[in-house]
Amino acid sequence: MIVAVPKETFPGERRVALVPASIPALSKAGFHVHVEAGAGQAAGFPDQLYVERGAQIVDDRAQLFQAADVVAQVRCLGANPTAGTNDLPHMREHQLVLGCCDPLSSPQAAAEIAKTGAMLFALELIPRITRAQSMDVLSSMATIAGYKAVLLAADRLPRIFPLLMTAAGTITAAKVFVIGAGVAGLQAIATARRLGAIVRAYDVRPAVKEQVESLGAKFVEMELETTEAEGSGGYAKAMDEDFYRRQRALMAEVVADSDVCITTAAIPGRQSPLLITADAVRGMPPGAVVVDLAAERGGNCELSQPDETVVQHGVTILGPTNLPAEVPNHASQMYSKNVTTLLTHLATDGRLELDREDEIVRDTLVTQGGQVVHPRLRELLELGPLEEPASNGEPASAGEEADAYELEEPDQGQ
Ligand code: NAI
Repeated sequence: MIVAVPKETFPGERRVALVPASIPALSKAGFHVHVEAGAGQAAGFPDQLYVERGAQIVDDRAQLFQAADVVAQVRCLGANPTAGTNDLPHMREHQLVLGCCDPLSSPQAAAEIAKTGAMLFALELIPRITRAQSMDVLSSMATIAGYKAVLLAADRLPRIFPLLMTAAGTITAAKVFVIGAGVAGLQAIATARRLGAIVRAYDVRPAVKEQVESLGAKFVEMELETTEAEGSGGYAKAMDEDFYRRQRALMAEVVADSDVCITTAAIPGRQSPLLITADAVRGMPPGAVVVDLAAERGGNCELSQPDETVVQHGVTILGPTNLPAEVPNHASQMYSKNVTTLLTHLATDGRLELDREDEIVRDTLVTQGGQVVHPRLRELLELGPLEEPASNGEPASAGEEADAYELEEPDQGQ
């Protein structure tokens, strides 16, 4: 089985889907790794390192796709809306394509990939279950983003983070407020604490209070009924506008008393809730910084703009949308581990086994047999329910228990 690693084509993307250190585990599971020349360069993995671990370097992208049983990408069409279309003609029937493709916001991209006959695994849909933790790319990338968000804030803030008692006087510690204590938020808390800031955090899920406190931050208590807000898998549920209005009002005081706000509040598949208004920004101290990690999905701060730096009322508001690409070496290492775990999970005795009874496959497989097979995406695309599985053994639809793909030996031309 050949797994191909194309060079990423999204502007500014510096990650690579597989790093050289993952190759031995993949080889053991029966995969030969082919890497497009230069694919790992920007992340600090030159071609030579891949060759030393047994990978083959391929110069031509079309040939790379043509020989591949599996294509592993960081961003495929959907998460790479313009350049991603160039790969469509290279995809083919029964080829497994793994990557981030923003399925819930760009279901049309999945429909385009379906037409190629490829089987798309949308890595954003990996379920948050214990068994799949080491495949969860959203968590790995959010970890990187939470860390980097704090460094960006520290860099922009005209103050330092830690308390210092020096001969030149006492410097008070910076106050950091983290909104949303999921994966990115918890890492932001830990990073700000390591830098010596006083950290407060809030989340609508009361269950995270203990985790926030264990990192040395104070959990902000608010008079909001939040038991309703707890969804499954550590995600929050969407609340009504009245709830968010009350939350904004209650939080404004904490925001005004913070040098830095890191916002990470997210609801899967929805626009991010608006939590910091322009008025609340006006209340912040001069030189304060807001880093809005949710800027790509509407933003938690009214003033943030995706990938822009906005300065208003003396406050700097950053809306970076691809922080993992700013830390490409470790981000790629984590992503690669996630992809490798998924691939070895799917491969048995040199074959790819897609068992739709398996929650991991069921939740993540988006296209198969020329169709979009994921129920949520079918709903978004206003497609009717899937037809019954074809009786001729073709992998036509969801509902079958398992499809095994005997994959060809490596093309000798490659
Ligand atoms: P997550 O789902 O683990 O955490 C989000 C947290 O927000 C949850 O704990 C949830 O309970 C909380 N939340 C939801 N509504 C809230 C509200 N009204 N008030 C307070 N808390 C609320 O998500 P994760 O993985 O930590 O990602 C967080 C955000 O960061 C997402 O928007 C994600 O897209 C974004 N992200 C951004 C990156 C970037 O480079 N800008 C990279 C990676 C993730």
